[in-house]
Amino acid sequence: MFTTPDLFSIVDHYITDLYVKEDDALVEAVTAARGFGLPPIEVSPAQGKFLYLLAKIARARRILEIGTLGGYSTIWLARALAKGGELVTLEADPAAAAAASEAFARAGLEQTVRLLVGDATQTLPAVISETGDPFDLVFLDADKVNYPSYFDLFMQRVSSGSLIVADNVIRAGTVLAPRPDDPSASAARTFNALVAADDRLESIILQQVGIKGHDGLTIARVR
Ligand code: SAH
Ligand code: DHB
Ligand code: MG
Repeated sequence: MFTTPDLFSIVDHYITDLYVKEDDALVEAVTAARGFGLPPIEVSPAQGKFLYLLAKIARARRILEIGTLGGYSTIWLARALAKGGELVTLEADPAAAAAASEAFARAGLEQTVRLLVGDATQTLPAVISETGDPFDLVFLDADKVNYPSYFDLFMQRVSSGSLIVADNVIRAGTVLAPRPDDPSASAARTFNALVAADDRLESIILQQVGIKGHDGLTIARVR
């Protein structure tokens, strides 16, 4: 018999084989990220397809992503945009930004994706103060300690029907009782409480298991 973590990974592969077609641009985004020395923490293929479907269901025309890495999740989300849509993605690490920019070119997305290099605590306020349409979908996947401050900022630039999606909010259950030496778990717990208390939103956390272990994804809709 398989132990349960093995089983969750095997089922993840089963789902991926059935429903997820990665083309060369997606496969190469991951291969190139490893070549640039980036950690293997992009969303899984099945999570990428899930993000794509959420963006399609939301009929997103404008997407904001915080935390680009090598651009794997970005490519999934950008491909779900309505024609003429735009995705703005924020990345602090210059090596990640370089990898992502090449990945967007290979995917033919240079005109669709705007990559802003720099600490999102600095770049996000500028993006929020830009004029233009609100974001139809926000994907939060950068440094967990800043999730609460990112939340306060991007909530100024969403409108009725917008979706907020946040990765890594369960952290193998460590959010239940964060240890003092785990600021990411504490911040995720704070973020989850902020979302839950916000009357502007209707929200849930989707608990996830699979090839990335045990975690959770916030899905919140602006009323
Ligand atoms: N969304 C990506 C994975 C992102 S990993 C995918 O699924 O493909 C998290 C990323 O957030 C890393 O690339 C890291 O460099 C970036 N990051 C961490 N702190 C940041 C900050 N303060 N501002 C912008 N990006 C940050
Ligand atoms: C880490 C970050 C992520 O966004 C993720 O999905 C998994 C792990 C990390 O920093 O370890
Ligand atoms: Mg993540």
